[in-house]
Parts: sequence; C-alpha cells; structure tokens
Amino acid sequence: MSTTEKFFEHIEKGYTTKGDFITMGAGMFNGEAVTNAFVKVPLKTLNRHGLIAGATGTGKTKTLQVIAENLSDKGIPVLLMDLKGDLSGIAQPSPGHPKIDERHEKIGLPFEAKGFPVEILSLSEQNGVRLRATVSEFGPVLLSRILDLTVTQEGIVAVVFKYCDDNKLPLLDLKDFKKVLQYATGEGKKEFQEAYGRISTSSTGTILRKIIELEQQGADLFFGEKSFEVDDLVRIDENGRGYINIIRLTDIQDRPKLFSTFMLSLLAEIYATFPEQGDSDRPELVLFIDEAHLIFKEASKALLDQIESIVKLIRSKGIGLYFVTQNPTDVPDDVLAQLGLKVQHALRAFTAKDRKAIKLTAENYPDSEFYDTKEVLTSLGIGEALISALDEKGRPTPLAATLLRAPMSRMDVLTNAELKEVLGKSKLIKKYNEDIDRESAYEILNEKIEKAEKEAEKEEERERKRKASSRSRSSSRRSTRMNPVVKVLTSATFIRGVLGVLKKVIR
Ligand SMILES: Nc1ncnc2c1ncn2[C@@H]1O[C@H](COP(=O)(O)OP(=O)(O)O)[C@@H](O)[C@H]1O
Ligand SMILES: [Mg+2]
Repeated sequence: MSTTEKFFEHIEKGYTTKGDFITMGAGMFNGEAVTNAFVKVPLKTLNRHGLIAGATGTGKTKTLQVIAENLSDKGIPVLLMDLKGDLSGIAQPSPGHPKIDERHEKIGLPFEAKGFPVEILSLSEQNGVRLRATVSEFGPVLLSRILDLTVTQEGIVAVVFKYCDDNKLPLLDLKDFKKVLQYATGEGKKEFQEAYGRISTSSTGTILRKIIELEQQGADLFFGEKSFEVDDLVRIDENGRGYINIIRLTDIQDRPKLFSTFMLSLLAEIYATFPEQGDSDRPELVLFIDEAHLIFKEASKALLDQIESIVKLIRSKGIGLYFVTQNPTDVPDDVLAQLGLKVQHALRAFTAKDRKAIKLTAENYPDSEFYDTKEVLTSLGIGEALISALDEKGRPTPLAATLLRAPMSRMDVLTNAELKEVLGKSKLIKKYNEDIDRESAYEILNEKIEKAEKEAEKEEERERKRKASSRSRSSSRRSTRMNPVVKVLTSATFIRGVLGVLKKVIR
C-alpha cells in the first residue's frame, strides 16, 4: 500500500460519522489534495465551539462562509458578526470560476452555486434591522461589568435599578439612568437615604464619568426601544433553510466598549431565552465572530470572566460559538481550551515572534504521522487549512491539512440595489425599525416587569406549597420576596438579558 493510500484510509476512518455532517473539503498529503478523502464535521459536535485562525488573506472569512451556508442548507440558523462588511454576498449565488471548478475536481465534490436566505441587522443607523436593548433589560450586573465598577459602585447601580423597579420607572436609555443617579444624590437624597442608605456623591460621580465614556463610543445607539427578541434569530425559510443573520459592524470596529456591551447582552439574552438541550444531534444556532480579537481587546478582567462563563454555559443550549481571528493567542486561554473544531489557516514566519507563535500553535494540535505540523502551518496555500474536529463521541479527529471547498454563494459583497432588495423583503425591519411612542414603551416595559414579578410570585407560591406539604420542615421562616432586579445583584446567580428574561444560572 502506498503512503497516499494509507493516508486516504487514515482520513476515511478518522472522519467516519453515522449522523449528519458538513463536508469541509479533502485531506491533503505532501501538499496535494487526495481526491475523495473527505474531511467531515458532524453536526452533533458543532455546539462545542470553534476557532478559525490564520494570517490575513489565507481564507478565514471564506471558511466561515462555507460553514455558515452549509449549516443553513441543513436548516440550522446562523448569526454572523461582520466587522469588515464582506459577508453580504451570501445572499447571492456564486458566479463561478474555472479555479473553483478545478478546486472542486481535486476535492471530488461537485460545485453548486446558490444564494441563501439573509437578514441584515445593525447596531447603528446603518441599513438593517435595528438591534437595541433598554437599560432596564440590560440589568445591573452587565452594566457594572461593562463600566468596570468596584463593589461599592456596583451596589449603587443595584440600588438605582431597585428604585426604578419599585417605582415602575423604566430605564430606557443611558439618559434615564444618569438622571436617576443624579436624583439619588440631589433632590431625592432623603428619599434614597431612608430607603436604601447613604449614597456617596464621589461614587456616583465616578459612575457618571464611566457612563459618559461609554456614550462616547456610541452606546446611546444601542440602548433604547424597541428591544430585539433573540427568538427572531432562529428562523427557517419556506424551503427549510436556516436564515443567515448578518450583523453589520463595520462602523463599530474602533469602539470596542460598544462591541463588548452588545456581545455580552446578546449572549446573556440567548442564554436566558433558549431552552436547555439534552443530547441533541444538531445545534440550534451557530454564531460566528469575525475579527474576534476585538471583543477581547480592552476588555477588563471582570468582563472577560463574564464572557468566559457565558461561553461555557451557552453550549448546553445548543449554541455553537466560532471565533475567527488572525492568531489563536488573540483568544483567552480559558476560551481556547473549550473549543471543539479548529481550522488553522497558514501562518507567516517573518519575525522571531511569528516563529514563536507558530511553534505554540503547532503544539496545540494532535500529533500526526503524516505531517510535520510546524512545517505545514507555514506552507498551506490560500483556502487550505489544518483541521481538527470532534467526532460524534467527542474524540478529536485526525489532524488533516485540507483543501477547502469554495463557497456556493458569492465571495463578494452585495451591490446597493441587491442590498435594497434584501432590506425591502425583511419582515424584521418592519417589526423593529419604527420608533415607538414613549408612553407605550413605558407600558410595554411595565408589563414585562409585572410579568416577571408574577412569575416570581407564582414560583414562591409553589415553593410555599412544597414547604407546607413537607412536614419535616418548619414553614415559619418568612420568605422575603425580592424584586427580580435586586435578586439579580444580591445573589449574582441570575443573568438578565436584552429582554430582561430572568433565568437562574447554575454555576
Ligand atoms: N475556500 C476557498 N475557495 C476559493 N477561494 C478561496 C477560498 N478561501 C479563500 N479564497 C480566496 O482567498 C481570498 C481571501 O480569503 P479571505 O477569506 O477573505 O481571507 P482572510 O479572511 O483570511 O483575510 C478570497 O477572496 C478568495 O479569492
Ligand atoms: Mg477575513
């Protein structure tokens, strides 16, 4: 048996899967694709998170595109964070190219050109479905993390939220929040002091300054009505294909605070909203973050911890999270350690630092009798990558240098006319982009708060009944019913999301 034949068997055996899967391309040996040696990723392990890394121009974004469109084809909705604005082409079929045909011939996979159902979302006033959240819904915990507050300052934020909830004062935007904060040490000083104790002016001053800093990054665009419901991210089109939601983030690249605020709120809300998945054979939703180093850049330790814990938790909800970045070292070690799928494109060895990074990266991949990983890392061509996935049983698949398939959709952006067409067809734009009247916004939010309170009351009622029925326990201890918002902070075991959905987080 020739070594190439041995390699073929190695790949075929290592990538066998009983369930449904995505074909990434064909394994490569000695720099050449081995036709039909398919490298496959089971849908079952796609909620185990992943990384797509490599130098600029090596094919990371196209790999993201390939995975996203194949997921959509399988009826799995996708969310793409598009920081460079180069993904909208997914809505249109690829025009094809002799080079693409050549690539697919080598892989042994017929090439099919098609476009996918796309929804464009936006954090700013750019064209697209507006993504917003109210400050009330964002909640005291995340707000304190984002502002990087001390424990004392965090306590004040909690009091402000409690006061507003007690008095049915919805905090729609940061302006509302600043107002209450000022009131607490101004006209309302006595009222606050009686109810919650003394609040120091120097602490509120610091919080105010930090809020202004956040506003300067454009956070006032994000905070407000009408808030986005994450259920709208998991839509399937009439042909059974998952929607590909593209969040255009081109205009917030230089505003890391706003980006992390948004990411945190989105992840927390998804976590709070989606039901727990048992042993599912496919993910519910897959998120890709292109240029992911931007969420970790300038993030405080507290914020990183919060992100890491949500990344860990969200997996059980059937949500896969994929980081796309130049260097794996851009991603915190705790997050890296949790990743199931790794797609490593070429790295360039210009400097001593580069060579060190290459060595470190190579060490993170399983050994292979067919490759010198370090060598392969620098010799991979464009649209080629080292892949290591998880099989159905959660075991790492063999390391495979892979000639990746080409995207079925267009590798270039939509024209203005095409974009207009996509936006014109959008049902979500109609739902989210009208400005709702403030009076009704209050009502809607009050209703939400009341609903959460009723839920808490019901839960308590059930608890009381449980306790009453169990004779072994004394039921004399009076339960101190707390407002949900305060519960959030005092126990720190709840996460409030964009919608203010309150769910217990098991740590
Ligand atoms: N899987 C692929 N199939 C065909 N061409 C590809 C593939 N991946 C990359 N390319 C080519 O390489 C170019 C750069 O890829 P891109 O994904 O934008 O790189 P990166 O995101 O790493 O900077 C693309 O415009 C395309 O021409
Ligand atoms: Mg890119």
